[in-house]
Amino acid sequence: MKHACVIGWPIEHSRSPAIHGYWLDHYGIDGSYTKRAVRPDEIDTFLSSLAADGLSGCNVTIPHKETAFRLADEREASAVAVGAANTLWLDDVGRLCAANTDTYGYMTYLTAQAEDWSRRDAPVSILGAGGAARAICYGFLEAGVGEIRVFNRSGERSEALARDFGPRIKPMPWEQRSSASTEAAVLVNTTSVGLKGEGSLGMDFTDFHPDCIVSDIVYVPLETGLIREARRNGLRTVDGLGMLLHQAVPGFEKWFGVRPEVTVELFDRIAADIEAS
Ligand code: ATR
Repeated sequence: MKHACVIGWPIEHSRSPAIHGYWLDHYGIDGSYTKRAVRPDEIDTFLSSLAADGLSGCNVTIPHKETAFRLADEREASAVAVGAANTLWLDDVGRLCAANTDTYGYMTYLTAQAEDWSRRDAPVSILGAGGAARAICYGFLEAGVGEIRVFNRSGERSEALARDFGPRIKPMPWEQRSSASTEAAVLVNTTSVGLKGEGSLGMDFTDFHPDCIVSDIVYVPLETGLIREARRNGLRTVDGLGMLLHQAVPGFEKWFGVRPEVTVELFDRIAADIEAS
């Protein structure tokens, strides 16, 4: 029997057990996926005793993503680019391996929902410059986007992104998030604005190119204010739940040996969970 879990502090609200639990049932795998509250001062001990605790690996959430990255023996390019890990597993010889699957989750879902997102040779706009923005920037750079405009409230973090990722990243003033995005191929919100209906990004989509795709990584509620406003303006939208589901795929495959599928049934199950909460 194989075991995995998600660790964080706090951890109560994690949806990962529902996602992995669904796949374990669906594929009839003799395994478990649980959540474990791990305090910041316990993370070193926890990770060094994964094998002794009978775990194949784990997902990592706030506040352990950077520490997990640092403590890993092997790091995939995705984790190196972001400087943080959300997925850990032990390889054949017991080495701790780390990946950041947010890039994979975001780009896979965007492409599944809007296959033609890169058809126009146009810039991409990113709102926010934190860890999630970093993962998504890396995805767009890898996909060959020529210019990524990063709008952040405080200039320092977008400048840091440009320093780390190079001249294709253009730090932009927060105030220009609408006016300098009208030609964008994709606009994505990576800030927490809109979570649980709190706050507004104050976007004006009036002059946006009709082919622009607006996406949000916030998935509570499923239809955020940003998504609603973009739809009202006739733009195509991509929700945040799909990214969450797709980012879980590589971990499940590493721990349980089956590459799981993100199905409509799984999406509806987790969406219902979110709506009920
Ligand atoms: P994550 O890892 O989820 O990306 P993070 O690293 O804490 O989280 O980053 C949060 C991002 O949301 C930051 O870009 C932050 O902007 P600042 O760098 O200026 O703090 C942005 N953010 C959070 N609340 C915001 C708000 N009310 N308005 C605009 N941006 C906000």
